Amino acid sequence: MKRSLFLLLLGGGLLIASAYAASPAPSAPNLHELMKNVVAVQTQVIWDAGNNAMDDAGNPDPSKMKPADWAKVAAAAGKVKDAAQRLATAPHVMAAAPGQKIEGEGATPGAFGAKEVQKAIDANPKAFQAFAAQLAASMDELLAASKAKDAQKLFDVSGRLDQECEGCHKQFWYPNEPGVP
Ligand code: HEC
Repeated sequence: MKRSLFLLLLGGGLLIASAYAASPAPSAPNLHELMKNVVAVQTQVIWDAGNNAMDDAGNPDPSKMKPADWAKVAAAAGKVKDAAQRLATAPHVMAAAPGQKIEGEGATPGAFGAKEVQKAIDANPKAFQAFAAQLAASMDELLAASKAKDAQKLFDVSGRLDQECEGCHKQFWYPNEPGVP
């Protein structure tokens, strides 16, 4: 009697364990969180490093890049790369968590909210993934530049990064605002 109760409990435990094991793959990445907490913050680190290493005439001055600065660039690039790769490879991207508002939502008439962003992504996931993959590739270039302590490369890549951000934003965030760069 005791024994069969034990087996019953054990069986129940196994059932629960296997139910967990069978639960779906990692949840869809939250675009809003990744943009706000990772991509924007870490890209700023890269931009700051690049700007601080310029001479008065605005030309790259490699002597201003200390080993610690290169380490900062590499760490930041690694984090942006991870985020971009998740966006480039996830089968489904969540524009924002349910009920979560994105920047500008409800503020400007016609501005996209999370729902509209979601629709735009779902309508053209391939283009979205391509933008994300391009960002990840640029981060690879920055990782290589940090390794080689190549200041010119840092300037080139960080100088064109904002266009890579804007390209995706224009298509998926504010396609209705022709005036916005
Ligand atoms: C693959 C497409 C894509 C790329 C590349 C991209 N973004 Fe975004 N980003 C979006 C979309 C779509 C939104 C609007 C939805 C949202 O806010 O989550 C957004 C929103 C943002 C926001 C606002 C977040 C908020 O508070 O709502 C910031 C800041 C941002 N991106 C920064 C950047 C920067 C900086 C880069 C470039 C280094 C970049 N993004 C590259 C797609 C992209």
